Amino acid sequence: MSLRYHIRELRAEDLTEVTALEADCFSMPWKYKDFEEILTNKNRIYLAAVSDSPNDAGRTVIGGCVLTDITGEGDISNVAVHVDYRGQHIATALLQELIRIGSTKRSIHTFILEVRSRNTAAIGLYEKLGFCPAGVRPNFYEKPKDDAVIMRLTVDNTKLPHQERYGD
Ligand SMILES: CC(C)(COP(=O)(O)OP(=O)(O)OC[C@H]1O[C@@H](n2cnc3c(N)ncnc32)[C@H](O)[C@@H]1OP(=O)(O)O)[C@@H](O)C(=O)NCCC(=O)NCCS
Repeated sequence: MSLRYHIRELRAEDLTEVTALEADCFSMPWKYKDFEEILTNKNRIYLAAVSDSPNDAGRTVIGGCVLTDITGEGDISNVAVHVDYRGQHIATALLQELIRIGSTKRSIHTFILEVRSRNTAAIGLYEKLGFCPAGVRPNFYEKPKDDAVIMRLTVDNTKLPHQERYGD
């Protein structure tokens, strides 16, 4: 049976699950208060992938990502999919929707992100979405130490899909 989920903006009731997802996925995770701040920050959007059928542990938030509008440039961060749900194009759907919202609702045309140089899965994801390498920040990351690859995408509004995507 195929996984059913939808993508929507962060709500207060998601904060505990989003914080747990972050802790599962990153060695230096954002904390509860960092996500809570997004609820009132006009320059940030968090998109959550929410399963339509909770698992045995009651989990509904299975993925998420953040867009920060930095004076017209879109900084993408905290891209995460729960380990049990990877490889089903959930990150792809989240990022496509984040880019669509950023571009159509905030007139952002350039999106940037940083990724660990050894994170081949994430680099493959970003390349598939059209991001290109735009520089390296040596020793940017700790735990473990790693370089950051900066990746950039410039979007053409005329080529964006007009409808939101829900599930695969
Ligand atoms: C990176 C991550 C978000 C990918 O999520 P996902 O939902 O599994 O990704 P998708 O299914 O949308 O993958 C899209 C493409 O990315 C690439 N990719 C994803 N996982 C991969 C892997 N393990 N190995 C190689 N390529 C991979 C593939 O090109 C894939 O396309 P394909 O399935 O058609 O081959 C997920 O592995 C994750 O949460 N990792 C931990 C947190 C993290 O590293 N975040 C990125 C921080 S910059």
